[in-house]
Amino acid sequence: MKKMKCKLTALFAAAAMALSLAGCGSAASSTASAASGSGQSADYTVGILQYTSHSSLDEIAAAIQSELEQQAQAAGVTINVELKNGQGDAATIKDICTMFVSDKVDLIIPIATPAATVAAAAVQGTDIPLVYSAVTDPVTAQLAKSMEAPGENMTGTSDYIDTAKILDLVLANNPDTKTIGLVYNLGESNSAATIEALRPVLEEKGIQAVESTVTTPGEVQMAAQNLVSKGVDAIFVPIDNTVASAMSVLADEAIKGGVPVYTAADSLVRDGGLATTGVNYTKLGELTAQMAVQVLQGEDPATMPVQVLNDGIVTVNTTTAAALGIDPNVFDLSGEGYVSVE
Ligand code: TRP
Repeated sequence: MKKMKCKLTALFAAAAMALSLAGCGSAASSTASAASGSGQSADYTVGILQYTSHSSLDEIAAAIQSELEQQAQAAGVTINVELKNGQGDAATIKDICTMFVSDKVDLIIPIATPAATVAAAAVQGTDIPLVYSAVTDPVTAQLAKSMEAPGENMTGTSDYIDTAKILDLVLANNPDTKTIGLVYNLGESNSAATIEALRPVLEEKGIQAVESTVTTPGEVQMAAQNLVSKGVDAIFVPIDNTVASAMSVLADEAIKGGVPVYTAADSLVRDGGLATTGVNYTKLGELTAQMAVQVLQGEDPATMPVQVLNDGIVTVNTTTAAALGIDPNVFDLSGEGYVSVE
């Protein structure tokens, strides 16, 4: 694989700048498009490890795959993609990582924090780089020394969002909000980081947090019922994979109890939550794939800043709003409208 690197680098350069492949071996074709027909196309293998199945991670995985394909086509090279789903199971995730390492893939793209953590351990002592996707807080997860210069052999993308903006939505609908239920898995550092950032904001606004933590998707229904029975004014769900896997159950319970659910990801609103302001995960996936290609081209992940998308798109589920008797327009804080899902 190492030998191919020169060719791949040059081919990407050729695609970008329409230059020839001077200095990179005489056998290589001089244009990107001709390379695939040369019988010795550059062959890279990228292992994608999707932590579990929920709609946002499915969306990210699809975006990564199609962007890798497009980039490869533009450069006239082949990138073989092995997409594996860890099903949220620690043993399965570990096995997949072991397999990627023994297959000597050229790069691993783990999607979501729990997958990235296991993959990072698996590539220790190898020269396989990681470009992780949608890791909310890579520094807290100990995957990056800093966002600007992650160090080691890994970098990636983050979906960190400003929780104060979500609280603005809560208060826009109900300025008298006094209690807010928090449903998340304490074991996911991505959620814990968001919750910690939210606490001082809640305090400042005089809102009391009522915790209802879970460890598996199977516990989400009870957690929701518990908060509804306590009469919380609203529920907040951070970017939590465990809750995401059972979001529709939580949403149903909340709607039954007349409690609005605010979330930190758009998929959680598509799955029945009321409103969010978050990132575009298709864009995040594409960005991850572009960074992966840069690393395949020879760029050093240690010095490539973690990319955070910060588009702050408001998404409202109008079906949920109608069920709760809420006018969705209260969430149009900027006057620029919102993305409406049903
Ligand atoms: N950011 C999450 C993590 O770090 C992964 C994630 C992406 C996610 N999109 C989501 C979790 C939507 C819940 C809902 O692990």
